[in-house]
Amino acid sequence: MDWKAKRKGSTMSDQSPAKKHGDAFENLLHESRSFPPSAEFAASAVATSSLYEEAAADGPEFWARQARDILTWDRDFTQALDWSDAPFAKWFVGGTLNAAYNALDRHVEEGRGDRVAIYFEGEPGDTRSYTYAQLTEEVKKAANAFESLGVAKGDRVAVYLPMIPEAVITMLACARIGAVHSVVFGGFSADALRSRIDDAEAKLVVTADGSYRRGKPSALKPAVDEALAKPGHTVDNVLVVRRNGEPVEWNEGLDNWWHDVVDTASAEHTAVAHDSEHPLFILYTSGTTGKPKGILHTTGGFLTQTAFTHRNTFDLHPETDVYWCTADIGWVTGHSYVTYAPLVNGATQLIYEGTPDTPHQGRWWELVEKYKVSILYTAPTAIRTCMKWGRDIPQKFNLDSIRVLGSVGEPINPEAWMWYRQVIGGNGGKKDHPAPIVDTWWQTETGGHMIAPMPGVTATKPGSAQVAVPGISVDVVDEMGEPVPNGSGGFLVIKEPWPAMLRGIWGDPERFKETYWNRFDTMYFAGDGAKKDEDGDIWLLGRVDDVMNVSGHRLSTTEIESALVSHPSVAEAAVVGAADETTGEAVVAFVILRGSAKDDDDIVTTLRNHVGKEIGPIAKPRHILVVPELPKTRSGKIMRRLLKDVAEGREAGDSSTLADNTVMQQIAESLKN
Ligand code: WTA
Repeated sequence: MDWKAKRKGSTMSDQSPAKKHGDAFENLLHESRSFPPSAEFAASAVATSSLYEEAAADGPEFWARQARDILTWDRDFTQALDWSDAPFAKWFVGGTLNAAYNALDRHVEEGRGDRVAIYFEGEPGDTRSYTYAQLTEEVKKAANAFESLGVAKGDRVAVYLPMIPEAVITMLACARIGAVHSVVFGGFSADALRSRIDDAEAKLVVTADGSYRRGKPSALKPAVDEALAKPGHTVDNVLVVRRNGEPVEWNEGLDNWWHDVVDTASAEHTAVAHDSEHPLFILYTSGTTGKPKGILHTTGGFLTQTAFTHRNTFDLHPETDVYWCTADIGWVTGHSYVTYAPLVNGATQLIYEGTPDTPHQGRWWELVEKYKVSILYTAPTAIRTCMKWGRDIPQKFNLDSIRVLGSVGEPINPEAWMWYRQVIGGNGGKKDHPAPIVDTWWQTETGGHMIAPMPGVTATKPGSAQVAVPGISVDVVDEMGEPVPNGSGGFLVIKEPWPAMLRGIWGDPERFKETYWNRFDTMYFAGDGAKKDEDGDIWLLGRVDDVMNVSGHRLSTTEIESALVSHPSVAEAAVVGAADETTGEAVVAFVILRGSAKDDDDIVTTLRNHVGKEIGPIAKPRHILVVPELPKTRSGKIMRRLLKDVAEGREAGDSSTLADNTVMQQIAESLKN
């Protein structure tokens, strides 16, 4: 896509935020409720307003202070930020540290070894817990085991695991030895796993026989077998955790059981320090083109910003809080706010393996009561699902322990926000001061929170992420890159480099520049539309590019289109995200079939399964509509805006720029049949 050309006055796309989100924002403008922190909360809050002042006064030095305050450095750094090779940033230049040491060993050395790091609850109800001392020991064993399997500093390790403690142990063991983990969400298919293994040239794959989902064993290992069945890969070893005990195929020479290799390894392992800019992980995410991008994060800056925000946004008091982030480690939230920040901060956290409705729809609230969870971090789609199930379900449980609620992944609508506040944060109305909600805007690329209220400082507004985190500089700009006035909308940009920013796209520096830095020259273009209200607070309005957000998961329209046209029955495909009450957006595909496929009654099921195989079950379209034509401009660009109108059941908008303006008519006719 030629962004530069677009800057010269032509309109951004047929999905400019003003058009796409006008109505939604009109509704939000009527939202005038605001909830200041209670005096009691503010009195003992971690974050105070002075953070904003310090950050504004000190620039990168503010972050240098946080880096020294929060982390233990082996060798101190000499420069906070080197931006001379922009947009490739270096933070905390010359410093060395070990991420696993910061998350584990130092807590033990400083007398916190007996504090629980992880409470684990499996879906069937089995439980385990790890103190900091125990978790440190497990990670040391895993580090030794990985080294014995030939993994060395800089090598890549693919992680395809369920939400079990071994996932965290694996990631930290990689960090300890300087290997770079690439976690692939368990809901991705064998094909998707293989393409990620190939792109990162992973040497080791860590997986499990499977896990438990909705009361039944669910397999993982067969997908790894399938992914590695075709020769030509870089994998020397597969390490398999026994989780559900289901029979698995065994590839001699490749497969190793975790209990054979890790459990028998030595628990002595000294962490060596790595450069502040040493790669910590790669995480693939969807972009506007078909091929997922390997987002690269490094060590010092990532740990500083994630731990700083975890402390301040969630008002973490590590001695007393029990923190629970419901995200899977397959997504960035599970990296930043499950594996790294909570442990660096010495927090006690809960990890739950399964689904919220197994064995009953009150499972989450039962866990909150059981573990006395005080900070809960989840996604709007989950909140809306619980709303649908009804408030009487959470009200059966004692949620009094909850003090702070977080939201992430997509805009949270004011109705869901208020429900979250009253029913969950207010323990069903029994609390005088319901828990504050922090709506956190950020991305895989940003590594950590960028826009979020501070719970003891900010008067929160239902539906708005509001203000930049101290030390972060964001704005909303028009098509020419000029800041919009309060009360107007535009594109969200980040104006200054930040510590946890991505350092690039694995193996593709040009794509990094093109994707994020070409649109507004020196500012990072996030791909989100946003508005400033009359107070200057920011309201996120969703993506302005071809990325969909389904239940807080990023999916690319082009990636699903490529999957569909790779099926022999499909001549052409166009995919749009249609608004959905619960999941935010739902995938709707329009396909033109080839010859004989038109008579196949099962074609829709076949194609849904095909997408499931190519990408994974999460990408399966909710609806596939077979149409005779697709609406295209004279230059051949599919007008997704018109298809979105159809998918959302509206009269199609202006179609005057179509090459053939009878197409919308033809589509309407074909869908009537
Ligand atoms: C969206 C998830 C509104 C946004 C951490 C962003 C949000 C994309 C919010 C990144 C929020 C995330 N309000 N929108 N609080 N948080 N988003 O990379 O469109 O999976 O660009 O990172 O999710 O998704 P990703």
